Amino acid sequence: MSQRDKILKLRNPADPRPLVLPSLLLCDFGDLKTELYQLEQAGVEALHLDVMDGVFVPNLSYGLPVVKGIRDHTELPLDVHLMIARPEQYLTQFSEAGADLLTVHVEACGSPAEVVQEIRSLGMASGITLNPSTPVAEIEDALEYCDLVLVMSVDAGFGGQAFNPVALEKLEQLVQLRTERSLDFILEVDGGINTGTIGRCRQSGATWMVVGSGIFRQPSYSAAMAELNDLGSL
Ligand code: DX5
Ligand code: ZN
Repeated sequence: MSQRDKILKLRNPADPRPLVLPSLLLCDFGDLKTELYQLEQAGVEALHLDVMDGVFVPNLSYGLPVVKGIRDHTELPLDVHLMIARPEQYLTQFSEAGADLLTVHVEACGSPAEVVQEIRSLGMASGITLNPSTPVAEIEDALEYCDLVLVMSVDAGFGGQAFNPVALEKLEQLVQLRTERSLDFILEVDGGINTGTIGRCRQSGATWMVVGSGIFRQPSYSAAMAELNDLGSL
């Protein structure tokens, strides 16, 4: 099965539950194997990996060797969010490291439609994302080549920020565009998603929810996942 197929078969659109993806930014990187085991035990079905380069965003996180290390220790699909300048230079390397879905920032790409087509041609699912201040119009040309659109509800760069409700308007705009143009991309939201915000995101059309502090700053991953699944269900 291709990396893309692994992503596309993850969730039946008729499923009332959201797909909650833990963002591995606040986990214990000294003990990743245990973290992965605990997340799998908590019923996690896919992981969100935040790659930051200190150039496109002011923060540095981790890169290819960590993605590969995670790939070697779990079968879970890997949703890799690239917060890096010139992402088009690294697509093959992220594919080889084990990314199943690769999402690039429109603000970082000269030709976003070409970059997402290239991601697909490498066998991965393709994603495009935009920061809260970037209008949806900026990604319109790329939409037909996207398997997923990630709406940022915080400025990319740091975990633990407050949810920006402009994301809800964008989700609703994208639902409308998807219908008008008969497209079928997945809608994902990232930043400040917790028990207080997940329900609104779901109602505005997101089905994939990235959660960092709402899982990793909670006492139990299982309890956090159960509550998020419940509050994010239609
Ligand atoms: C922000 C990252 C997010 C972040 C989410 O740049 O893309 O994935 O880690 O963390 P919370 O849920 O704490 O906002
Ligand atoms: Zn992210």
